[in-house]
Amino acid sequence: MRILIAYATTDGQTRKIARFAADTLNDLGHSVELLNVADAEGLDLARFQAAILSASIHAGGYQKSMAEFLRSRAAEIAALPTLFLPVSLSAAGDDAEDWKGLRAAVDRFLADTGFAPTRIEHVAGAFRFTEYDFFRAWAMRRIAAAKGEEVDPTKDKEYTDWPALSALLKGWQASLA
Ligand SMILES: Cc1cc2nc3c(=O)[nH]c(=O)nc-3n(C[C@H](O)[C@H](O)[C@H](O)COP(=O)(O)O)c2cc1C
Repeated sequence: MRILIAYATTDGQTRKIARFAADTLNDLGHSVELLNVADAEGLDLARFQAAILSASIHAGGYQKSMAEFLRSRAAEIAALPTLFLPVSLSAAGDDAEDWKGLRAAVDRFLADTGFAPTRIEHVAGAFRFTEYDFFRAWAMRRIAAAKGEEVDPTKDKEYTDWPALSALLKGWQASLA
């Protein structure tokens, strides 16, 4: 099956997740195109039989490049089975308020873009201190401290559950057949 994986990232973790999804699906015999949505100009969506879209949340919102892609290609995307993978740090925990906020942010994003994914699965992201500037590093240290998380501000800390993501992808592609 020809599968598109389109992602938007700010600090790189969603690119890593999208790359992992591409490798997993390739290994299962699919033909996968991995694309940063910012580079989607001229993309022929009719070539694909399914799509994974992934973007990360920053201060309650997802990347504009993903919103623009979803809006501008709405009809073609609606014709495909789609798996939306929103990436966040809230998804790394089980705080009810965090999850409420996360679901509300996804609902806002879907309402704003008109995107109606066939399936949505939240994926935990990472603290990427090696990518942050001074102010972002400071803000993220405060967030980590507020959550009682021990972080070393000189190192990245990854919460993405790769075996769970692999199982999810395997189940998803099997359901398409
Ligand atoms: C400035 C900033 C704001 C963030 N805001 C949120 C947020 O509102 N909710 C949340 O769950 N995670 C938030 N995060 C965590 C990111 O979603 C997480 O680090 C994710 O892995 C980023 O993906 P990316 O590396 O692909 O950009 C924020 C991270 C940063 C750096």
